Amino acid sequence: MPTIAVYAGSFDPITRGHAELARRSRTFVDELVVAVTTNASKKPLFSIEERMSLIETTLANVSGVTVCRFDGLLADFARSVGASLIIRGLRAAGDFEYEFQMALMNRHLGPGLETVFMVPSVETTYISSTIVREVARYGGDLTGLVHPAVAAALRTKFAKP
Ligand code: PNS
Repeated sequence: MPTIAVYAGSFDPITRGHAELARRSRTFVDELVVAVTTNASKKPLFSIEERMSLIETTLANVSGVTVCRFDGLLADFARSVGASLIIRGLRAAGDFEYEFQMALMNRHLGPGLETVFMVPSVETTYISSTIVREVARYGGDLTGLVHPAVAAALRTKFAKP
């Protein structure tokens, strides 16, 4: 039986930190399903189609990855794709409380569904989608923070009319 993991998030947009985690997850899972939520409470900068397309481009050279969208509960989606693991990145201590609650709830909703917390590399630990959007909004240098295709998409979004 292959080990299938779901790496879920908003990915608005995918960063180098996300990409690094996806790549490293593949060293211990056979298949990684990158699951993009459509029901983000905050209004995303990129549409679901744009986010999925940028993930596909960023992870084009990582094998065993599929990109899907999901509505509703992550535990239900994980079950529907046969996943036994949920991957989440923990960048800082501040992330922990929410992540801890979410992991317990997901195990309650999907018995046997384990959450694996991954620590990013030191070089990417400060990179978040929120910070990247902020840098892009004010025309900052995005080199090394996101894939060049994501940088181009961000520049287009924030281009002055
Ligand atoms: O990248 P994010 O915004 O931190 O991702 C959060 C996400 C999408 C993984 C989380 O909000 C989620 O799983 N949403 C789906 C609804 C759900 O299952 N909530 C968790 C039950 S605690």
